Amino acid sequence: MSAALAVFASGSGTNLQSLLETFGADASTDDAAHVALVVSDRSGIGALDRAERAGVPTAVLAPKAFEDRDTFAAALLETLEGHAIEMIALAGYLKLVPEAVVQAFRGRIVNIHPGPLPAFGGPGMYGYGHHVHEAVLESGVRVSGPTIHFVDERYDTGPIIAQWPVPVLADDDPESLAVRVLKHEHRLYPAVVRAVARGDVRLEDDGRVDYAAVGSAEGPGFALVGIDAALESIDSRWRAR
Ligand code: GRF
Repeated sequence: MSAALAVFASGSGTNLQSLLETFGADASTDDAAHVALVVSDRSGIGALDRAERAGVPTAVLAPKAFEDRDTFAAALLETLEGHAIEMIALAGYLKLVPEAVVQAFRGRIVNIHPGPLPAFGGPGMYGYGHHVHEAVLESGVRVSGPTIHFVDERYDTGPIIAQWPVPVLADDDPESLAVRVLKHEHRLYPAVVRAVARGDVRLEDDGRVDYAAVGSAEGPGFALVGIDAALESIDSRWRAR
């Protein structure tokens, strides 16, 4: 059975695109998920165009248009129920997801962040405007990379599922780093969404992430696989000297 996935986006939607290209919009797919809905808080954005081109229904729900947080949350929940949504992937969604939605989807709602968490996260540290990449460059860390986590009631604090190391180069600026990190986002996010949709990666009641059902090649070490590959390439360069 393929899980009906809603992707929440506020921008250009390149992560949405990678999910669309991986899973498609067809509920009868053999894959673990299909994109059944795209939700945005604003109209006129690239993500909505991408959804329409892929034949995926869209819903624009601007928090401002509602009387208060509760009515916004109720409308969001009703929209998700109307499309029989079973899992949510935030992909460049800039609003805080209402508590009622987080609670209804706990363990089935994930987010991608364009930098290492928990160090480079929180309100204001979002990908657009390169705030995260600027902070990474200012800090002097030599490794950045995307983090994928379960969503809780706050920005960027939910249990981490996967990270991928992306080296910070000496001549990087926020734009060049963003481009390099984004490429890895597009690889990592579909793999993690698939693992969560399959139930191979689970959020425990105590907040721990259970990877028991994932093979070692893709498992807790989503990050370790990357580090291995990076070390392998560095080792082979050294050996070739
Ligand atoms: C990505 O860098 C994502 O990590 C962040 O916002 C950006 C969205 O890009 N949360 P796109 O809309 O998927 O192209």
